[in-house]
Amino acid sequence: MDPWTYNTIIEPFRIKAVEPIPFLQPEERHAALVRAGYNLFKLLAQEVTIDLLTDSGTGSMSAHQWAALMEGDESYAGSRSFQDLDAVVKRITGFPHVLPVHQGRAAERIIAHTVLPAGSVVLNNTHFDTTRANIEQAGATAVDLPVPIAMEPSHSAPFKGDMDIDALDRALLEYRDRVALVMLTLTNNAAGGQPVSMANIEAVSQRCRAREIPFFLDAARYAENAWFIRRREPGYGDWSVPAIARRMFDLADGCTVSAKKDGIVNIGGLLCTRLDDWAEKFANDLILGEGYTTYGGLAGRDLAAMAVGLDEALDPDYLRYRERSIAYFAKGLTQVGVPIVQPAGGHAVFIDAGALVPHIPADQFPGQSVANALYLEGGIRGVEIGSLMFPNAKLQLVRLAVPRRVYTQSHIDYVIEVAQAVVRKAAELPGYRVVKEPPFLRHFTVDLAPI
Ligand code: F0G
Repeated sequence: MDPWTYNTIIEPFRIKAVEPIPFLQPEERHAALVRAGYNLFKLLAQEVTIDLLTDSGTGSMSAHQWAALMEGDESYAGSRSFQDLDAVVKRITGFPHVLPVHQGRAAERIIAHTVLPAGSVVLNNTHFDTTRANIEQAGATAVDLPVPIAMEPSHSAPFKGDMDIDALDRALLEYRDRVALVMLTLTNNAAGGQPVSMANIEAVSQRCRAREIPFFLDAARYAENAWFIRRREPGYGDWSVPAIARRMFDLADGCTVSAKKDGIVNIGGLLCTRLDDWAEKFANDLILGEGYTTYGGLAGRDLAAMAVGLDEALDPDYLRYRERSIAYFAKGLTQVGVPIVQPAGGHAVFIDAGALVPHIPADQFPGQSVANALYLEGGIRGVEIGSLMFPNAKLQLVRLAVPRRVYTQSHIDYVIEVAQAVVRKAAELPGYRVVKEPPFLRHFTVDLAPI
């Protein structure tokens, strides 16, 4: 029998190095949360039992990646590790200009510094928070154009990450020459980790090419998005994952990549393009802020590990396990009464806190209330993606992101059991108020208090 036809989802790896996880008593967790100003970002790692804060930079590297690390070439310019990475990225994406950066937001900052004049507009299915913040810092405007169905958590559709093409047409008319860049975020993290269809990428690409507007992918989770196209979009079932990924990149003029996701590294990113004039501007800014063009703020060993990870993320056995394990998590939560964004996404399960604690109004942060309850109940750390992170958020979500190749099925079973305990207490959970907040990206450092 094909091992994948059995119901049990076996992790497609065995474990060679282990890391202990902390176990805390309820009063210790409570004291930790009070000290952290009820902000889970401010907990210490040793205060968290299962850390689902992010899938970014938290993955386990393979034996092959660790071996590549030892081979890292630390030459300041022209290192072999860069040549290896450059070849892998060119093979996967086809983009002729490949710049390494220390993480995804560095690529966003370079774009914002060099090609987004004040007053310009960037259109995206949904900007990730750092992308939006970098664009706004440049005095430009970030406009989100998600499909309407993305705002209906319980509605199951295969490609809820798509951009609303009618809204794109209207925005192109409304903003005209001010549109400096169109982006698609694959998968659409801020809108529930939902994938974007190839048909949608094609439709966006066609409109941008007709108007000569540069079109970039935020390709942090390019492999997961390609996998969902193969699984869900008619006509792609027999395509290889790299062929699908390549088709996605072929439709765009460039990409930003946080390699901390589908690059399966702890640090790293990329800025790639086929636009020669933009590449030159990017390279000059890179040297100013990140480092020379063949290392971009990274060590040679980081480049080496990234080159291996970018390919490992395209392995169908790994992707099948990734999809099935997130779906298992989603199903388990649903069975114990936790409302979640349907269908299960690629890197996380998103709890619909608005539905779980309807007695808490948006300005009292229902998502934060549920996230804090999961921590108090079982030491689980997720992240609010709602009105605390985005003051005008339409959905009140808690994201439980699953690091790559880190937790096993029993860890997930534990999380589901803890979530069940939170469901029983849902009606008594408090709202929160802001005690102290910074001027932007407030969720990272805000202090809160229960009401
Ligand atoms: N784009 C997307 C879609 C992201 O999810 C992230 C990061 C970035 C860009 C920025 O990349 O962190 O390497 O600078 N997302 C992390 C998360 C932080 O938790 O979802 P970065």
